[in-house]
Amino acid sequence: MKKRCLFLILIVFTNINIIMAQNKAKILVLIHSDNGGTYELAKEIAKGIESENNAVPYIKMVKSSQNPNLKNLTVATVDELTGYDGIVFGSPVYFGNISTGMSEFLAKTVQLWTSHALEGVPASVFMSAGSGAGKELAMQAFWNSLAVHGMILVPNGIRGTEELNKAIPQGNTVLGVTSMASLKDVERPTKGERNIAELQGKNFAKVALALKDTRPKRAALVAEHHQNFAEILKQKNITLPQVPKPAGNYQPFVRSGNLVFINQVALKDGKIFNPGKLGVEVNEQQVKEATKVTMLNVISVLNEAVGGDLSRVKQCVQLTGIFNTKEDYTKHAELMNVASDLTVEIFGEKGKHARATLGASSIPVGSSVEIQAIFEVE
Ligand SMILES: Cc1cc2nc3c(=O)[nH]c(=O)nc-3n(C[C@H](O)[C@H](O)[C@H](O)COP(=O)(O)O)c2cc1C
Repeated sequence: MKKRCLFLILIVFTNINIIMAQNKAKILVLIHSDNGGTYELAKEIAKGIESENNAVPYIKMVKSSQNPNLKNLTVATVDELTGYDGIVFGSPVYFGNISTGMSEFLAKTVQLWTSHALEGVPASVFMSAGSGAGKELAMQAFWNSLAVHGMILVPNGIRGTEELNKAIPQGNTVLGVTSMASLKDVERPTKGERNIAELQGKNFAKVALALKDTRPKRAALVAEHHQNFAEILKQKNITLPQVPKPAGNYQPFVRSGNLVFINQVALKDGKIFNPGKLGVEVNEQQVKEATKVTMLNVISVLNEAVGGDLSRVKQCVQLTGIFNTKEDYTKHAELMNVASDLTVEIFGEKGKHARATLGASSIPVGSSVEIQAIFEVE
């Protein structure tokens, strides 16, 4: 009996712990570091975050490092960024700017940007410099990038300056802490810089906790959208083909503003599917099958144009179907319905489009059909 009671108490205790961990603010301290200076500050930031009872820091790198002090750190993925309640970014100063490693990582977040996935997520920045030349420009540049994401930028203000040894240069800035690793008058980061870093972490955790659960669940929405299209294609047994390679001096698609322009023929597995002229080499059914092949090629190219996220398609604006027909043929619209139906089947309302159809006496590479498409995308 006693044993059973103890067991039950243990289960309840474990569950309470799990619930408490779930309620904590998860804060990513995302860094690039070559020589470890940024990492030293990151550890102090994490200490400050941890000092707020309900916040947990995770220090991760934007890319792997062979530096013995850094090589065991986990590398973050772009996709995981949406899973945190706040992100503190740390980078070395490179030419009065953020480092190449940090810049390359941020360049991979285009899809998060266009889907507004980081909007409303609190962010703060810190940096390790050499002499400190251009450090505040670099901090400001960091903010510029994060502002594009619509993140809530949390400055550090004037914090911890009372304890700073003002007889030596120090890395306090109002945006966030920095350190000047090449000034070896004292050990860097200095005691005062470490203290400011810790205070920055603590203050940031407070803000992240206050904002926790206030933003719409963008991440969930984005994932749902993603899944929807994968799901829709699966349910309808539609497999997108490989993007056909251009056969001349042109691009598979061109994006101009929010419009994507695509032209395709009935290429399948490297050769033209059901080639020839309608009523001579092929019948209507064969041309309809070729039309479906062609439209799938169009959607496959479109998928590439939106970085694999078809939820970014706002509207199919126009489809133009050109068919290799004899002069007296008049039922082009029926052939083209195959492409239109497929587009509406996949995109619903967003798939409804303006349309033109016409006949041609010949089409490149013997295809029985060519489709020109214009889509509006995010
Ligand atoms: C390409 C490059 C450019 C740099 N530009 C600057 C600079 O403009 N100002 C500065 O103070 N330090 C500059 N540094 C020095 C680094 O910011 C400094 O070494 C920093 O502490 C490195 O951080 P880490 O130890 O985390 O790698 C530069 C370093 C490199 C490699």
